[in-house]
Amino acid sequence: MSARQDALIRYPGHDLLLPDIVRAENCHLFDSQGRRYVDLESGVWCATVGHGHPRVLRALTEQAARIAHNGYCYGTAVVEEAARELLALTGFDGGKCVLLCSGSEAVEHGVRTAQAAVSRPLLMTMADSYFGAYGSASRRQADEWFSFDWTPCAACPFAGECDQGCQHWSAIPFDRIGGFLFEPGSSSGLVRFPPDKLIRNLVATIRRDGGLVLVNEVTTGFGRTGRWFGHQHYGFAPDVVATGKSLGNGYPVSAALYAPGVHERLGGKPVRYAQSHQNDPLGAAVAREVVRVIADEDLIARGAAAGTRILAGLEAIRAGVGRIAQIRARGPMIAVELDDTPGAALTTRFHRELVGCGYITGRRPGLPVLRIDPALTIEDADIEGFLATFAAVLADA
Ligand SMILES: Cc1ncc(COP(=O)(O)O)c(C=O)c1O
Repeated sequence: MSARQDALIRYPGHDLLLPDIVRAENCHLFDSQGRRYVDLESGVWCATVGHGHPRVLRALTEQAARIAHNGYCYGTAVVEEAARELLALTGFDGGKCVLLCSGSEAVEHGVRTAQAAVSRPLLMTMADSYFGAYGSASRRQADEWFSFDWTPCAACPFAGECDQGCQHWSAIPFDRIGGFLFEPGSSSGLVRFPPDKLIRNLVATIRRDGGLVLVNEVTTGFGRTGRWFGHQHYGFAPDVVATGKSLGNGYPVSAALYAPGVHERLGGKPVRYAQSHQNDPLGAAVAREVVRVIADEDLIARGAAAGTRILAGLEAIRAGVGRIAQIRARGPMIAVELDDTPGAALTTRFHRELVGCGYITGRRPGLPVLRIDPALTIEDADIEGFLATFAAVLADA
């Protein structure tokens, strides 16, 4: 290993804690000294079937040896197959799919398509959600986006459905809104879930006027919330699903998926989204295998059980040790909010100490929240080891 680690531009606020990772296997990372770390963050919530899953690895290497990439005018069967399997999984048989590289791109494709397909180009979204690093979704310009702060709705005092009698609801300019881009849990990484009633009413109202409902499943997809997709907790069928992260299990592939009829609303007007790695055979082979692995190995149920076990352990720590203000969770997507001072010094130190003890959790700079998003394949021994360490380190912190 090079002694210096200063050639790379790194994302600010994230100090380099382990500069010498050489290998990964399922939930474990190993450094050059052979030290093992349990990765409860799955990279950036991506390695959902475990690092280096043998089947995904085989699909990747075999496809790379055959053909990794081709031009726009040439097709490879695996790409069409992956698209069909993803469409079937989202309940969009007969719909359309495009494979891209990142979650940001999948969301962007969905947004551009929706804006071209509807007559009212304003899209609604939740003020605290995150959709990507670039493109219109990251800019959130006022002429393109209506941002809604759902915080008051979390403690809605009214029993009935949302209506004009509510000051928050009546402030939504439905007559100008052509679509709703919904992140069904997470909210800028903090694991927050907008309330059912609000979402049910928004979906119905936007649909009634011909609007489209897009869900951003980049983080919540493929078992992260204990179901295949986060929107399934809300009981509606979306028009567009954007996926990424877990779909590639660490390989950069994403997909924007369209229900039958949505693409047709473009009336033949193409969405001009040219990108070199669009519908690449290599990404398609990986995505197809990841989805098959999740189904074959019953990983949605396994991940949900792991989430339940971790949550119960954390609740016990909260009761016994304290220092935890709140735990928010859905399946194996968990946030632990610590009782911390502004600036989150305790959380930063605690996060480092956990790494020192061999446990990697997720952290957002300056916020008192640790994220726990393990692979769906995490072993019970790793969960027990983590909980015991978490309790001991927290008690000492
Ligand atoms: C909810 C959500 N949407 C979209 C993205 C963008 O995905 P990517 O970083 O793969 O572009 C992220 C990334 O963290 C995310 O958390």
